[in-house]
Amino acid sequence: MTAVTLVTCQGDAITPHLEALARLRIRVFRDYPYLYDGDLAYEAEYLGRYAQNPASLFVLAFDGDTLVGASTGQPLKDEVAEFRAPFERADIDPSDVFYYGESVLLHDYRGQGLGKAFIAAREAHARSHSFGTVAFCAVERPEDHPAKLASYRPLHGFWEHLGYRRRAALTARFAWKDIDAAEESEKPLVFWLKSLAG
Ligand SMILES: CC(C)(COP(=O)(O)OP(=O)(O)OC[C@H]1O[C@@H](n2cnc3c(N)ncnc32)[C@H](O)[C@@H]1OP(=O)(O)O)[C@@H](O)C(=O)NCCC(=O)NCCS
Repeated sequence: MTAVTLVTCQGDAITPHLEALARLRIRVFRDYPYLYDGDLAYEAEYLGRYAQNPASLFVLAFDGDTLVGASTGQPLKDEVAEFRAPFERADIDPSDVFYYGESVLLHDYRGQGLGKAFIAAREAHARSHSFGTVAFCAVERPEDHPAKLASYRPLHGFWEHLGYRRRAALTARFAWKDIDAAEESEKPLVFWLKSLAG
């Protein structure tokens, strides 16, 4: 097994790695359940917002000089309205929430605890900045989706094990183009939360 190095940075310190991060997201999110037909122009805009925010966090996994995994986060108050609104409707103050953008890791590097380390690093950051809650959202696809392989293992057990709870009433819709589609379509996303209090 190759040794992987984790590096943490914030804001525009991500700039030298932005293109590698964009390509990694496009590659990993092509798989079910995201099926994301990514493009670099969208990635530049999306990741650019994180890079421009000095309060954002990137946890990068390198094998030598190659970026093989990454996770991101930023205060929810700095997120787009689509992601803030469900919390505001539920009377959860976005200023108290540190929001995870994503975790992506190439297949060859999975199952070695890096996913757990991505979460631990962001929780530690959120705690040290006095956030009371950490949260992220995940796409939900129909059980019988044709692109779901028999070997697919949902991450729900992983997240629950780490103390995250699915909040069925906290939902959003977000549009992207699926790999087999001609047009973008909206997907339902459900938020998962963990309280850092206590
Ligand atoms: C999320 C992701 C980064 C996790 O990576 P990982 O490094 O393989 O995870 P870990 O090795 O830290 O797994 C930690 C634990 O969860 C378990 N686990 C891993 N994948 C799991 C899954 N799909 N379902 C249930 N448990 C899982 C492992 O067995 C391990 O448990 P253990 O420590 O008790 O043995 C990786 O699966 C990934 O990139 N997925 C695709 C992108 C994605 O869906 N991201 C999440 C939404 S943004």
